Amino acid sequence: MSRQMRVAIVDDEQDMRQSISQWLALSGFTTETYADGQEALAGIGADFPGVVITDIRMPNVDGMTLLKKLVALDSTIPVIMITGHGDVPIAVEAMRLGAFDFLEKPFNPEKMMALAEKAVKKRSLALEARALRSELSDGSTIMKRLVGASEVMQRLREEILDIGQADGHVLIDGETGTGKTLVAHALHAVGMRAGRKLVTISCAGLADDALSARLFGPVEDMVGKPLIEEARGGTLVLEDIESLSEAMQARVLGLINELGTPPETRIVAVCNTHRAGQTIEDALRPDLYYRICAHKITLPPLRMRGEDILALFTTYLGQFAEEYGCATPAVSMPEAAQLLQAPWPGNVRQLVNIAERAVLQSRREEGALMSLIMADNEATNEALTTEGKPLKEHVEAFERMLIDNTMRRHKGSITAVMEELRLPRRTLNEKMAKYGLVRGDYV
Ligand SMILES: Nc1ncnc2c1ncn2[C@@H]1O[C@H](COP(=O)(O)OP(=O)(O)OP(=O)(O)O)[C@@H](O)[C@H]1O
Ligand SMILES: [Mg+2]
Repeated sequence: MSRQMRVAIVDDEQDMRQSISQWLALSGFTTETYADGQEALAGIGADFPGVVITDIRMPNVDGMTLLKKLVALDSTIPVIMITGHGDVPIAVEAMRLGAFDFLEKPFNPEKMMALAEKAVKKRSLALEARALRSELSDGSTIMKRLVGASEVMQRLREEILDIGQADGHVLIDGETGTGKTLVAHALHAVGMRAGRKLVTISCAGLADDALSARLFGPVEDMVGKPLIEEARGGTLVLEDIESLSEAMQARVLGLINELGTPPETRIVAVCNTHRAGQTIEDALRPDLYYRICAHKITLPPLRMRGEDILALFTTYLGQFAEEYGCATPAVSMPEAAQLLQAPWPGNVRQLVNIAERAVLQSRREEGALMSLIMADNEATNEALTTEGKPLKEHVEAFERMLIDNTMRRHKGSITAVMEELRLPRRTLNEKMAKYGLVRGDYV
């Protein structure tokens, strides 16, 4: 933790707070002093990088009230209470209210240092975990790869964070290409098993003997460990779980019973039942189904989340353009309309493929995108669709896409975008804020 941790000392007796402060400063703590609870509350916020040592009897806001307010503000700020000698009821009450510990007057400096040290350590761990969690939730790494501002995607991000932290096995369901494998990785990356391994195996296409040997051993070629050993303490992803035979279902159920509760290794089962036209409840024996599905995530098909189509498409266009070292192709109005109305039977994967081909083609010829969308989607013989997408959604998604695409092409030059879209600066700023677009991302 790079941030300097602080110790706030709250006491109405000036001599007292100064001597505590000096003792702690001598041991290398950074201290700050407050004369009562009210002053302290003015100086200590929810993310306060430190701990609090407070007296109990003080004017204005007393120690117990300060404790209650701090616990309500941020329950992970450790508060150490200074109690009168033998004042057991007060100490007990303070602990009940969430105090970290208490120091009896007259106190011994050694004991105070040790307690402050312990509290500071606890606080840094809590802040670190919080920083990591918010970093993962609003941005970096794998969560950042999840594109989409639709309600469904927002809920999905929350679900991933919640389930990632929880115990119990997970079932992920959805059509092909909807992001099931990506979500399985995200669950692992945001959870407490992130430091351990994620191991994946597909249950389809392997005979029972081979699958069983891979999972449980013995490994025939003597190379590596059985996967259940390799995944120990981490995540075991079982892809195509619907393909498990009856015999293998029984073995996996046995495995789940051995893993216990909470399970040492988490199983994330991924199923693609839409392909076979059956439901997962039909494919698995009920006892296995209920054990595996402590948490269930269902990924909606792309055609059900129209708002995300253009955001996904422009994001991938930008990524591929960078990868291939060429300019991001422009998307015309009719092309955008086609993107929104295509049936997308291959979901996000199909869209990613089209984005890549569009970038490659745009290096050679102009205006090829439309024919790509048409050809790719016609091949599947499905009707164009506006299923579940009100006009407002189309219009907003389209507007967002246009601004996103124009910002990309002008590398974040607001003036150039204002000119091209003939928008006043204020309107442009408002729309960018509305759609969560940040200039810095394009520069
Ligand atoms: N919300 C999303 N944001 C960005 N990219 C996504 C999103 N969902 C899926 N993708 C991308 O779409 C592609 C397909 O995703 P993924 O492989 O996870 O799908 P799947 O459901 O596991 O497919 P299958 O059933 O064929 O195994 C990947 O390139 C993935 O990165
Ligand atoms: Mg997959």
